[in-house]
Amino acid sequence: MHKDISQVLFSQEEIEACAKRMGEQISADYAGKKLLLVTVLKGAFIFMADLARFIDGDVEIDFMAVSSYGAEAKSSGVVRIIKDLEASVEGRHVLIVEDILDSGLTLKYLLRNIRSRRPLSIEVAALLLKEGKQQTDVNCKYVGFICPDEFVVGYGLDYAEMYRNLPYIGVLSPDVYS
Ligand code: PRP
Repeated sequence: MHKDISQVLFSQEEIEACAKRMGEQISADYAGKKLLLVTVLKGAFIFMADLARFIDGDVEIDFMAVSSYGAEAKSSGVVRIIKDLEASVEGRHVLIVEDILDSGLTLKYLLRNIRSRRPLSIEVAALLLKEGKQQTDVNCKYVGFICPDEFVVGYGLDYAEMYRNLPYIGVLSPDVYS
């Protein structure tokens, strides 16, 4: 699988340092408060696992899975909930954890959906923000890296469900998908 990567964008060490920094910031911001971490499956599962271990404080972790309606709808923001949260959100401090924000439309939907459940607060932590791709305002409080507009895989991010287990984030060689 490494041979399919044309360039490593963020190494394992850089990602770990980033998760540590972000975790420390979140720990400080939520000191004394209990946090509900919402993982958006599938891509965010590895980042969540690392980030959560750098948060020093009371956290509960829950999972949500969403899917776009068809390939063409990827950036339409029309998403379907495949798996909903088990935890109640009402009156809680919620932090949505995402691997990547591209158009921002999935996040927009998630924020609207979770806000309707009346959390006490809601913020977003994303490992990657794709440069210049957002079609909507993304109110993302914690951003790991600005990511160039490339086909990126690894560390949770996939191409056809593969490459999620790469320990770094890299650019997928066009030979693989063209
Ligand atoms: C990715 C990512 C976000 C969404 C961002 O998920 O995890 O949820 O796309 O795209 P957007 O900003 O353009 O809405 P994906 O649909 O690839 O599913 P996966 O996490 O299961 O791989």
